[in-house]
Amino acid sequence: MPEPHFVPHHDRYVPRESPELAARAFCALMSKRRTVRDYSERDVSLETIEWLVRCAGGAPSGANKQPWRFVAVRDLAVKRAIRAAAEKEEREFYAHRATDEWLADLAPLGTDASKPFLEIAPWLVVVFKQTRGDDESQHYYVNESVGIAVGLFLAAAHHAGLATLTHTPSPMGFLQEVLGRPKHEKAYVLIPVGYPADDCRVPEAALRKKALSEILTVV
Ligand SMILES: Cc1cc2nc3c(=O)[nH]c(=O)nc-3n(C[C@H](O)[C@H](O)[C@H](O)COP(=O)(O)O)c2cc1C
Repeated sequence: MPEPHFVPHHDRYVPRESPELAARAFCALMSKRRTVRDYSERDVSLETIEWLVRCAGGAPSGANKQPWRFVAVRDLAVKRAIRAAAEKEEREFYAHRATDEWLADLAPLGTDASKPFLEIAPWLVVVFKQTRGDDESQHYYVNESVGIAVGLFLAAAHHAGLATLTHTPSPMGFLQEVLGRPKHEKAYVLIPVGYPADDCRVPEAALRKKALSEILTVV
């Protein structure tokens, strides 16, 4: 068993204002985040994407195994292949796989099987969860860990003025094939990243969030 080794936690973040004000300001920033399905072609630098992934890669994870792989796609031919495969799955989903209740829940969002944003957004960041390490080592709490990393990615993108969509064209097995990822990597979410189109609109239904009293219980 390796011995633990501790170092002083000097590099701590201390906000200039009170925790109440800092939390309130961050909440105000994050409450302006919206899922965007209508992108402009305006480019986003690779350096920006790298910072977003670095931020996500700093997330907590079970036993610090960091069970994720981010594949950033900007190649148009690859984006087209992803769009074609995603739309095939989505046509099947909307026509057969989705239950009536699911379709009713999606109706206010105005989504359908057409996904032009998969070609138009300058980047598609495909997040894979690693069921095991590249060296076959065990990973723990993979779904929880990758979900947290994706949350940090979305927050970092929003903070950088960029729009995202958490897209799950289920089943996502085609992403492993198109992107040539190994068997122990399973697609977790597909995130277009870019700027919203000038005339971008968002569904009014997405603005309705539960009140604090519905999501917080204090004991
Ligand atoms: C796990 C997950 C999967 C989602 N899958 C899709 C999807 O496949 N297609 C889509 O258009 N939106 C998808 N969404 C976006 C949600 O519809 C969106 O987050 C919700 O309507 C709230 O809107 P907001 O993000 O603007 O607050 C997904 C969101 C999450 C968290």
